[in-house]
Amino acid sequence: MNEKISPLDLTEQDGHQRAECSRYVWRMLKLAHLSDPHLPLPDQVDWRDLMNKRVTGYLSWHRHRRHVHDRRVLAALRNDLEDCRPDHMVVTGDLTNLALPAEFDQAIDWLSELGTPDDVSVIPGNHDAYIEAPWSQSFGRLAAYMTQNHGEMKSLAASFPYVRKVGRVAIVGVSSAIPTRWFSAAGMIGEEQLLRLRAVLDELGEEGYFRTVMVHHPPIEGSARVRKQLRDGNGFRQVIGEAGAELVLHGHNHRFDQGEVKTPLGQAPVIGVPSASAWPRHGMKPAAYHIYRISATPDGWNIRVEVRRFDRRIERFVAQPGQTLSVPAAVNAASAA
Ligand SMILES: [Fe+2]
Ligand SMILES: [Fe+2]
Repeated sequence: MNEKISPLDLTEQDGHQRAECSRYVWRMLKLAHLSDPHLPLPDQVDWRDLMNKRVTGYLSWHRHRRHVHDRRVLAALRNDLEDCRPDHMVVTGDLTNLALPAEFDQAIDWLSELGTPDDVSVIPGNHDAYIEAPWSQSFGRLAAYMTQNHGEMKSLAASFPYVRKVGRVAIVGVSSAIPTRWFSAAGMIGEEQLLRLRAVLDELGEEGYFRTVMVHHPPIEGSARVRKQLRDGNGFRQVIGEAGAELVLHGHNHRFDQGEVKTPLGQAPVIGVPSASAWPRHGMKPAAYHIYRISATPDGWNIRVEVRRFDRRIERFVAQPGQTLSVPAAVNAASAA
């Protein structure tokens, strides 16, 4: 077994906000899930970078999206994460809007404000693969947030799924980000990646890890319109259904979603989160993110889900009613702890 998590000192702490976030002493991992920050476009964009599909996204940004994804929300998010102090953060894609080089500069700065590369894991979304671009000049620039022990990532096709281990929780990053034709926001994992995912999940399951699988596009059938859907969602669900997983996290829909996939031991919860930067206007859902407190029990795993949603009246994230889930473990989780 890999390194163990020591009991976390989460007793009452100074400050109202902090006490609200973490009031319990559990042997557990606290994982924050955020998605789709769509960091605001730089003021100056070189028109030569827009002579392709990006022009549609650029117009959409100026007509609509710039009124939604708001720097005030991102500032509140950073403060809230500092108060809540998760052990690890996962970001399920769409950090950018048009995958411009300057947007990847912003993404690197933003991630470095969240935490060190060891503390934050990311996967790409469709906006991060908006057009065909060399891996080393696009999402590959965020490789430090996707590798463990300074491993190498050579290309979008060959680098996924990646695996990071945080105590007894394995984070499995799947890429569904592919450049698509104009007006499409669809995703595809691909047969080769699905084969590798199957092998990875089998191995981690045998080793008794809590397997958290991240994918940008919603994998539940019918949860996104055809133009935005995961084209090989069937294949993904089949892999999860055969190999098992304890939690599947996604973004893309900019709203809360919840479903499940039947696994050999029970059901794998599949949970989507709204955009992390959305100011609630024009009927948009307010920004939110989730905190998962994952602990081992004699029967498997306990997952306590906390929803933290942006409140525009006070410009802060506040706790909403959450839920507790139980999932079985292939190996006795409590005795392996
Ligand atoms: Fe998005
Ligand atoms: Fe997306």
